[in-house]
Parts: sequence; C-alpha cells; structure tokens
Amino acid sequence: MGLYQRQIAPRLINRVCASSAFDRDRSLICAGLTGTVVEVGFGAGNNLRFYPPTVTKVYAVEPSEVSRREAAKRFATSSTPVELVGLDGQSLQLADDSCDAALMTFTLCTIEDPLAALRELHRVVRPGGRLHVLEHGRSPDAKVAAWQRRLEPLEIALADGCHLTRDPVALLTDAGFVTVTLDQHYAKGPKPWAYLTRIVVERPAS
Ligand SMILES: C[S@@+](CC[C@H](N)C(=O)[O-])C[C@H]1O[C@@H](n2cnc3c(N)ncnc32)[C@H](O)[C@@H]1O
Repeated sequence: MGLYQRQIAPRLINRVCASSAFDRDRSLICAGLTGTVVEVGFGAGNNLRFYPPTVTKVYAVEPSEVSRREAAKRFATSSTPVELVGLDGQSLQLADDSCDAALMTFTLCTIEDPLAALRELHRVVRPGGRLHVLEHGRSPDAKVAAWQRRLEPLEIALADGCHLTRDPVALLTDAGFVTVTLDQHYAKGPKPWAYLTRIVVERPAS
C-alpha cells in the first residue's frame, strides 16, 4: 500500500465523513442499538457520540492505522466501552451469535467483498438481532446512475476503494437479512455521492 492510501486518503475520508451534514442520519441509524454491538469500518469513531446509553459495549473493526489512532482519542472521552477486535470485517474474530446488534456506516461502499462482510455479521449477530446500516449507493435515477458509473473508477482510486454503484438493500437481502425499516433519500451535495440508504435489518430468529 502506498503513502497516499496509507496516510493521506484516510485523513481526507475521515474529514468528509465527520461532516455535520450526516449528523441527523447518524443519529437516526444509531437509535435503537442495544447491548453488545459490533461496528465494522469503525473509522475515526464518528458514530461514537450517537450511540444510545442502551449500548453496553462496542467491538470495533477497522484496518486503517491512521483511523484507529484518531478513534482512540475519542474512546478516551466516551462513556461507551470500545474494544478493537480486528482489522477486517470479511473475517471477524468473534464467536457465532456473540453480538446483540451491528452497525456499518459508509463502509459497504468500500469493503472489498461486501457480501463476505455481511455474511460474517449474519454469523456473529444473534438470531433476532439487528444490523443498522447507513450507506450511499446506486441512485434509482438513470441520469445520476450513469454519472455514478462514469465517476466510479476515479472514486475507487482516490477514496480508498469506495464504490458509487453498490446497492446496499440487495446486498443485505443476499446475505440473508430481512428488512425492518428502510429510508432512502438524497442528502445535500452532488447527487452521485448523495443517494443515502438508512436501513435496519434483522437476522431471522430461525
Ligand atoms: C468511508 S469510511 C467510513 C468510516 C466510518 N464508518 C464513518 O462512517 O465515518 C470507510 C471505512 O471502511 C474501512 N474498511 C475498509 N475495508 C475494510 C474491511 N475489510 N474491514 C473493515 N473495515 C474496512 C475503512 O478503513 C474506512 O474506515
């Protein structure tokens, strides 16, 4: 991995992700989380201040050393206990059914094999437990989707593998989760990046 990917891209991405423009969606997607939560793609810990008091412990998974260092500053002042448990959401170092819930924000777009990561979450979240996801992705508008396809190679190169055309709802369904609530809307900003999905899904009880 080169200097740009290791040092510069994570700092730029963490700055964009920390924008207050996402505060409302972060707050809404964290609502209802409870018990032991695994967060894949923890980044710089941008969700930490939105975790409700019903969350008793967070298992954080994050490959970027720069981001883990930024996140550690936030742990120090957080009332929610956080433990770093690994570097790769595609292969979690957690036992089957060991978590009550899971959270992913703006990570399905980046993770190399998103379906593998979702299957891992399906394994570690207990039956009846929920996965909360906030993500940008493929627009239902043909013109915007065409721009997303054109821009995607540049986005992948500059933003640490981030894709513009993934469909979070289809990925979650393919991984075996069942939709509980779904909201899709454009956030402020250029439309190819702004089509947001806020979705809560459940691992079926049987
Ligand atoms: C766009 S950032 C979002 C960070 C954070 N979730 C947020 O909302 O601010 C995408 C994150 O996914 C992480 N990531 C990339 N590949 C990953 C993997 N295989 N497993 C876990 N996290 C990964 C990146 O390091 C980065 O922190």
